[in-house]
Amino acid sequence: MGYIKSAALEETGYVVLDSYGKEIDPKEWLDLEYVDWKSSGDTRFAPLASAKGEIECNGFWNHKPPRTDKDGVWIDAQTAIAPTLTERALEPGANVGRCRIIELQPNSYADCLYNLHQDDNNRLNPDGTGWVVRGFFNLTDDKDSFFVLRENRTDPQGEVRIALPAGAQLIIDTQRLWHAATHLGSEPRYCLITSWESGAELDAYIEKYNGVPHADNVEVAQDVLEAGQVEQARRDAARAAYYAAKGQQEKLAMSEA
Ligand SMILES: [Fe+2]
Repeated sequence: MGYIKSAALEETGYVVLDSYGKEIDPKEWLDLEYVDWKSSGDTRFAPLASAKGEIECNGFWNHKPPRTDKDGVWIDAQTAIAPTLTERALEPGANVGRCRIIELQPNSYADCLYNLHQDDNNRLNPDGTGWVVRGFFNLTDDKDSFFVLRENRTDPQGEVRIALPAGAQLIIDTQRLWHAATHLGSEPRYCLITSWESGAELDAYIEKYNGVPHADNVEVAQDVLEAGQVEQARRDAARAAYYAAKGQQEKLAMSEA
């Protein structure tokens, strides 16, 4: 039967929507309760919706009973602080799974390449239902930062680098594309991440905000690109050696967020 997927995401695995044009009070993300949850760098997360409405970030499949990344339970204490963010996550009308704000400390392009991962949004997702993809709404004005997308984690060919000013809105099939952010600022980056179920509602939302499956690539100096690639390979090798020494299987596909 197969999953219901968005035609808009078929070509590249992502779409860039119109920029969000309104101001939001930073209290909506700064005043939330964050939990330490390391994912793709030095991160914390503030959930707005979680598996059971508690302030935690675990994949829904790790709860009892295990389930896929749908039907997130809104956390009243958090949504009361972030009404605009909650509204934005609800606007498409698509089923919402996990919904949270990521706080990412500054890092480098090399860190980002090492952090590239695929999400596990569709674990336990029943065949014939909508494929879970993710919305990324950048909240802070991270003018020098960018999202990196690759079809193959270690192959720079076709790498996409999308700028992350305040208001940037992306929808990404994060189970298909390897992804991570390069955040070059001096302050943390905040971004709203929402798991949405693909279907007619999400398609209409992408159309309404003129989603396009391409973006202007952020320019990065060739020596930085090359050094990042070398550093990714070096850290991958160190990681592999570490796990080999421990006699454990290496886990390259870091899950979550
Ligand atoms: Fe992710």
